[in-house]
Amino acid sequence: MEPIEAEVRPRGEIGAGYAGMIFRQIQEIIDETGGQAGGIIRVLQQAQGLIGYLPAPVIKTISRDLRIPLSEVYGIISFYHFFSMVPKGKHVIQVCMGTSCYVKGGQRILDTLRKGWGLEPGGITHDGRFSLETVRCLGCCGLSPVMAIGEDVHRKVKPSQLKDILNSYR
Ligand code: FES
Repeated sequence: MEPIEAEVRPRGEIGAGYAGMIFRQIQEIIDETGGQAGGIIRVLQQAQGLIGYLPAPVIKTISRDLRIPLSEVYGIISFYHFFSMVPKGKHVIQVCMGTSCYVKGGQRILDTLRKGWGLEPGGITHDGRFSLETVRCLGCCGLSPVMAIGEDVHRKVKPSQLKDILNSYR
């Protein structure tokens, strides 16, 4: 996927290529709201659905065209946890760092993911296959340390198992 260029395109001068196509579709989504500020969440959701996350130039375009201050748009994005300003991998790894998981080795899982895959919390692998997040509790503290990949929850994870676990996700 091409990166979204770092400038906000003037309306009517969107250009060609992948970024042009994305901006064109986003402006169609904005136009469907009739420029109503109340449609901001729907516009952000659809833009994220299109790209996978919300890059800064897209956020600025939405702010400009809906005439909502940029700070307000960023406020909405940070309020709702489902919005992301960073690209996510094909598979999202969530390592639990709640008390029980932390005590039982959550940090060792994070250390192994950093050393073996170059993954930091909030980061993504070079091939876009995995991104990493930390969470506070995945609801199965009795089986800690716990890690989720997508919908799958892996319990009592040992760092030595990570290679096999990650290799099972293509
Ligand atoms: S603290 Fe990790 S699952 Fe609850």
